[in-house]
Amino acid sequence: MCVGCHGIPGYQTAFPKTYKVPRIGGQHADYIVAALQAYKTGDRSHPTMKGIAASLSEQDMADLAAYYSAQK
Ligand code: HEC
Repeated sequence: MCVGCHGIPGYQTAFPKTYKVPRIGGQHADYIVAALQAYKTGDRSHPTMKGIAASLSEQDMADLAAYYSAQK
């Protein structure tokens, strides 16, 4: 799901052509968790990411952060 918007080499992404989506692959795990929590609490306000983060548990965020931080 995340990959559809956050470009990861080898995956086809259509969305970033119309909106600049930050790359999260290779990003620091702590940063990814902090960003997701900020969307969930409303400290960061982007409609799409807020909607996504709202449905994530602490464990989901930790898992996602571990996965994406391991990508190149
Ligand atoms: C519909 C497109 C879309 C999807 C799907 C999506 N994102 Fe995002 N994401 C964005 C956009 C656009 C931003 C930049 C928002 C902003 O400017 O704050 C962003 C920002 C982020 C950031 C902050 C990056 C930074 O450099 O500050 C993280 C972390 C993130 N997304 C993680 C995820 C994860 C994990 C998923 C899957 C559960 C996901 N996103 C799914 C569009 C998407």
